[in-house]
Amino acid sequence: MDPVRQVMDAVADADTGNELYGAFAPLYDIFFAERCDYDTLATFVSDRAPAGARSVAVGACGTGRLLARLADRYDRAVGLDRSAAMLRLAGGRTDTALVRADLRTVVAPGAFDLFTVTGNSLAHLPAGAPDGVRTAFERAAESLRSGGTLVCDFMLTDSLMNGYVTEDTVETDRCRVERRVVTRVEDRGADDLGAAGRYDYEFTMTDRRTGETARAEASLPVRVFEPEALPGVALSAGFTEAALVDPPTPYGGGLVARVPE
Ligand SMILES: C[S@@+](CC[C@H](N)C(=O)[O-])C[C@H]1O[C@@H](n2cnc3c(N)ncnc32)[C@H](O)[C@@H]1O
Repeated sequence: MDPVRQVMDAVADADTGNELYGAFAPLYDIFFAERCDYDTLATFVSDRAPAGARSVAVGACGTGRLLARLADRYDRAVGLDRSAAMLRLAGGRTDTALVRADLRTVVAPGAFDLFTVTGNSLAHLPAGAPDGVRTAFERAAESLRSGGTLVCDFMLTDSLMNGYVTEDTVETDRCRVERRVVTRVEDRGADDLGAAGRYDYEFTMTDRRTGETARAEASLPVRVFEPEALPGVALSAGFTEAALVDPPTPYGGGLVARVPE
């Protein structure tokens, strides 16, 4: 079937329900193929892996673009995500293992040399709750072998502005995808790590051949971080070294943490 038709149908059929990325998984995928340099990101992540690393877990792997690249570099790669719609697209991209799971509960004790969570996915771990990013870091630390490394990116508190509107359009030869995001601040002092808010998303896709459009909307809770708070979270979650780094993604913050040898 025509790939643009397939996306249109997927958007129309999507069960928005409680699935954060349900309706706009295919639109997200087209959009971020253009807006994120996954090759550079894969190199950034691998460069921070421990020497001789052979296995990687890609947390919140989404549609698998980073996962597919890391799977080419390691003997064993596993993608974890809680969205069935995102994982379906990842499954069409790579034949590496995919697990539908929440980062706050999934553990594979001592299984990986490298654990990575990028693409601003930490933004979706709830603020002010006992099971937010601290719990996800604890699960990641437990899933790493001795000397294993966690590599994350995250959005900085300063970038969460009330009523801020971002509009961006990606064009391929067959379609145009427009994305509008309105940022809302809901709780400036949500917890000791930063603030909480919401992204109100609208994606519109247009088939450039037929002019047909499909739209998807979603309002996602997001949280942002005071950078100096995150190394402390990693240290309290079982890592023994934690440092801020400058990632090649546009969210502002990055963290590399290591579990003991
Ligand atoms: C912004 S997308 C990033 C996807 C991918 N990392 C990328 O850069 O293309 C965020 C992803 O995080 C996933 N996600 C959000 N909260 C999660 C959780 N608690 N456990 C696992 N995955 C989660 C979503 O389903 C979505 O695929």
